[in-house]
Amino acid sequence: MEARGYARSRRPLPALLLILLLPPAAGAAGAADARWSGQGTIPHLQSIFLGRCAEYVAVLSPELRDKNCTAIWEAFKLVLDKDPCSVLPSDYDLFINLSRHSIPRDKSLFWENNHLLVTSYAENGRRFMPLCNVLYGMVGDFLSWCRQKNASGLDYQSCPTSEDCENNPVDSYWKSASIQYAKDSSGVIYVMLNGSEPTGAYPVKGFFADFEIPHLQKDKITRIEIWVMHEIGGSNVESCGEGSVKILEERLEKMGFQYSCINDYKGWSPTLQGLSGFPERLWVWQGAHYICSLCQCP
Ligand SMILES: *[C@@H]1O[C@H](CO)[C@@H](O)[C@H](O)[C@H]1NC(C)=O
Ligand SMILES: *[C@@H]1O[C@H](CO)[C@@H](O)[C@H](O)[C@H]1NC(C)=O
Ligand SMILES: *[C@@H]1O[C@H](CO)[C@@H](O)[C@H](O)[C@H]1NC(C)=O
Ligand SMILES: *[C@@H]1O[C@H](CO)[C@@H](O)[C@H](O)[C@H]1NC(C)=O
Repeated sequence: MEARGYARSRRPLPALLLILLLPPAAGAAGAADARWSGQGTIPHLQSIFLGRCAEYVAVLSPELRDKNCTAIWEAFKLVLDKDPCSVLPSDYDLFINLSRHSIPRDKSLFWENNHLLVTSYAENGRRFMPLCNVLYGMVGDFLSWCRQKNASGLDYQSCPTSEDCENNPVDSYWKSASIQYAKDSSGVIYVMLNGSEPTGAYPVKGFFADFEIPHLQKDKITRIEIWVMHEIGGSNVESCGEGSVKILEERLEKMGFQYSCINDYKGWSPTLQGLSGFPERLWVWQGAHYICSLCQCP
């Protein structure tokens, strides 16, 4: 089973979590006659979006109570009128403008291939504020949406991914959100990479490489700290100074950033402390709960 089309796409989820997280309808998507290779529009998209937004501004970040979730939704849903292969990142400009808020200094956490760990580590934004804990990243996290190809309704069967066409609604959303997040990040920047990922810890083509690094504001950033995490009992494919991690280090150095790299950073929350690498088993059982309360669940 694949999680394609979900948050920032290309992000594999352990099978157990998928079963816990996916509504029955989404599990049935991808039927033989599906036009696109990604998950179809999540049922009740508007209610989920508005519910997440309302919770965020009223409960999680009351200082954002002036945000108007109805207006944010109306800006977002403009893309639902567009051809599903003709949605550009700039089509989300008004949505980002209305939902944007500041990111606390030293709290930005960038990642690739690590979504589950990142949400656990972030502890609801108290320790870090990764993109999925920012209002404009949270409203779409783990969701998929697109208009039908030749009609005005939503496509609940399937939606395009980058394999189908570049300018699809979900990828363009994450590009737009990633760019804004990078621009608004300041202080110490943390980057969590998966050193057990067979294709390399740092994808040289990916959201971080293509849409975040280029938009980091050098004058606001004091240094960049890279954490290369390895699965407990899993393979150790790359560490600091090796392979794609080295490529990243060289890129940051060339750009004039001060950076450091740490293998298996151990600053976990109390329940996870003392473990090295990915606390995968813990995470799978307790993580379903974390992820639902942090970055929400469909
Ligand atoms: C929120 O936005 C909607 C849609 O733009 C608008 O009709 C409504 O008056 C706004 N509410 C407030 C409190 O500003
Ligand atoms: C939104 O756009 C308006 C008009 O272009 C601009 O004045 C305002 O600063 C923007 N707000 C944010 C939060 O980007
Ligand atoms: C790290 O990558 C491995 C190999 O792809 C994957 O099995 C694992 O789930 C990833 N870890 C996390 C925390 O995402
Ligand atoms: C969609 O519309 C195009 C252009 O009008 C047409 O060529 C195509 O056959 C249509 N496809 C479907 C599946 O209706």
